[in-house]
Amino acid sequence: MKYIFANWKMYLDFDESNILMNRLLQNDFDGDSLTMAIFPTTLAFTEIEKATQDTLWNVGAQNVAWVEKGAYTGAISAHMFASAGAKYALVGHSERRYVFGEKDEDVRKKVEACLEVGITPVICVGETKEDYADDKRQYRIKKQLLAVFDGLETKGKEIVIAYEPVWAIGTGDAATPADAEDVIGWIKSELEAFTKQEIPVLYGGSVDKKNVVSYIEQDSIDGVLVGHVSTQYDEFVDLIREIEKQ
Ligand code: PGA
Repeated sequence: MKYIFANWKMYLDFDESNILMNRLLQNDFDGDSLTMAIFPTTLAFTEIEKATQDTLWNVGAQNVAWVEKGAYTGAISAHMFASAGAKYALVGHSERRYVFGEKDEDVRKKVEACLEVGITPVICVGETKEDYADDKRQYRIKKQLLAVFDGLETKGKEIVIAYEPVWAIGTGDAATPADAEDVIGWIKSELEAFTKQEIPVLYGGSVDKKNVVSYIEQDSIDGVLVGHVSTQYDEFVDLIREIEKQ
């Protein structure tokens, strides 16, 4: 089973999101070998959730607030996303961490909120360019993992991790497959210390139809989190077909 998760970020407006989803739904993809999810703009979330019911597509939130309800202008809680049909939520995406100033402790609270309402958190971790240059990659990722998993009750809960080196996101400068495999293998060994269950780990950062197979064919990499390319119909369909051929 391979995961293909599409993070549409803030690339598509309401109409564009619905049009792209309807086009994707015209295709017959291999539901037995793929787990697929779209993370659309929240504006289009409910439309896309309705359109994908009884299809192999799942829908996820790009971000959640951890408090259930209250005076939090502009926020939408994990609880509300769950009631609107979210199966997944991205948590701790690097754009949330570095553009919007989210801290490791915020990520932990969001993960807990997701688990409480039955949403599978897709926890994004990864080092910045500076971390990488300073040889702090493992330090950064370990800190991010520790903040989430230390003392967390995960028994019977589904969790997904996405390793996304910040320097590879939206830059065209993807990590080499061997490098991604090394880091993801190490992340899996770290995860074993916290939980005794299998946690899939995806690679994200400048994935496209040309390089996707080189990641998917690695032993430890369970799938991909695709940003910009997932908003381009032809490119994204080609990418999915490449994975299906494997
Ligand atoms: P990208 O983004 O594919 O545009 O590099 C990946 C992500 O941020 O999830």
